[in-house]
Amino acid sequence: MDPSVQKHYASAGLDRQDVTNYLDNATASRWRFVRLNPRHPNDATLKALEAEIGSTPVRVPWLPECAQFFAIPSATALNNLRTYQEGKIYGMDCSSGAAVAALGLNVQGNGGEGRTVRVLDLCCCPGAKLCMIVDMLLGSRMEVVGVDISDARLNICKKLLRKYVVTDVVSESSEAPSPLVRLFHADGTTFPQRSDCLVFDSRAEAQETASSKGRKRMNKSARAREKKRLKQLDPGEGGDEAGDKAGGTKESPAEYDYVLVDAECSTDGALTHLKHKKKGLKGGAGGGGEGETVTATVKRKLDDEGNLTALQLSLLNSGFANLKVGGTIVYATCSLSAKQNEDVVRAFIDQHGGEAEAVPLDFLGGNKSPAVSGPNHSLRFSPTLTAEVGVDSVISGGGFFLCKIVRRKVVLK
Ligand SMILES: C[S@@+](CC[C@H](N)C(=O)[O-])C[C@H]1O[C@@H](n2cnc3c(N)ncnc32)[C@H](O)[C@@H]1O
Repeated sequence: MDPSVQKHYASAGLDRQDVTNYLDNATASRWRFVRLNPRHPNDATLKALEAEIGSTPVRVPWLPECAQFFAIPSATALNNLRTYQEGKIYGMDCSSGAAVAALGLNVQGNGGEGRTVRVLDLCCCPGAKLCMIVDMLLGSRMEVVGVDISDARLNICKKLLRKYVVTDVVSESSEAPSPLVRLFHADGTTFPQRSDCLVFDSRAEAQETASSKGRKRMNKSARAREKKRLKQLDPGEGGDEAGDKAGGTKESPAEYDYVLVDAECSTDGALTHLKHKKKGLKGGAGGGGEGETVTATVKRKLDDEGNLTALQLSLLNSGFANLKVGGTIVYATCSLSAKQNEDVVRAFIDQHGGEAEAVPLDFLGGNKSPAVSGPNHSLRFSPTLTAEVGVDSVISGGGFFLCKIVRRKVVLK
């Protein structure tokens, strides 16, 4: 492993040898995590999952129960599980779950009875957190807007939404309001702008699915119909049949109750992800140069940290501009770097004076939390590199950073 990358991990408090062993040694193992899809009865899903994996999934004790996160053995291949194929579980790291839990969407009465809760996910792809946001709000009137700059990643996000969310919209019962989920291909640092492009609308999608009698794959004419419909709905095109302003414009900024900025980062904390990426490389895990390739990605991003932190601050500022007074914004990264985490938050708070107030993250349950608190009530989750299996061990996921900020009204003196 590159010495500068090793040094980076050491400065984040991780044992160099642990990291090297973890990334380079195929036998190192740990948990992986699943989240239950609330559209299916949880007990039945858990029973089916237990039968499939041959062991009892362990609830992640420090996340709110309603988040329904479970740890299962790391060697489990999700793709082979029927519960996964049938959309009854999501594969999602528990630290990522903490970012959504931090928004506090599950708190009773958020947004008030009957009011539409509006959430913006400014870097939404591939979409695990976006789906969780929708799930946490099921039963409420919601408008969830996802933004990402990558077309390719938006396509993955659409697939995820089709698998989990559109099914729900199609089978909607009359009392339960159906979720409105929209995706914009846009630069999060300037969102919303007229040039931003609406690329997905859950209700339009549901209509198309219903009219094509549930066919999953769209033919050419269905795709053309979808394109036309999205154009009609796109606020940037002057249309907005839904009667809301999901995209807004720079002149009339959209106002959201909650904003998540899960910013582009050097991903050095997402060690499981890095390990999987490495496995996917030619030659498999542990084979000579592959470890270099993975850490080279991290190294390249760390070498460009100045640009990265400027982007992160800009995303956070844009998210804040979209937030209504009294609303909540969560800044998150899967990096262990102080420059991308605590320093970005500090610069942001300094820029906004009393208008941006960092607040404690109060959702963590009991003393089994793997998180450590830092300045501005931020939390750091350190990745566990060795297998820790057992109900009494602290269950932790990937390395992650979180800070929750509330927008206060500025009182002019
Ligand atoms: C850490 S990932 C987000 C993961 C996502 N929240 C999830 O849970 O699946 C960061 C994302 O930011 C996107 N991104 C990078 N620069 C951006 C920008 N200027 N505006 C919007 N998205 C951006 C990347 O394409 C990437 O999908």
